[in-house]
Amino acid sequence: MIKIATLDDVRPGKMFRTSHNNHAYLLANIEGEIYAMDNTCSHEDASLYNGALKGHCVECPLHGSLFDFRNGKPDGNPATVPVKTYPVTIKDGEIYIEI
Ligand code: FES
Repeated sequence: MIKIATLDDVRPGKMFRTSHNNHAYLLANIEGEIYAMDNTCSHEDASLYNGALKGHCVECPLHGSLFDFRNGKPDGNPATVPVKTYPVTIKDGEIYIEI
């Protein structure tokens, strides 16, 4: 488990990009729940952080696939491979993920 951010970093309804050991992670605060997934799209090399948060999904800025933060699955348009998601633990205002 690694400490990846603090709760203050991930404001309600917003995304937060961070990295650990040169690997980029994307966090989101959706309805008070913190989610974590890889920041790189599974289709091509796009930063999902530059996309838009839509409900429980992030829309890839390059071709518009929607990835669900709850399971990483795309809507299949055009991406077909899920983005890896990570279990999140919050303790004393710090956000940890299991990698
Ligand atoms: S790079 Fe994300 S959908 Fe194509």
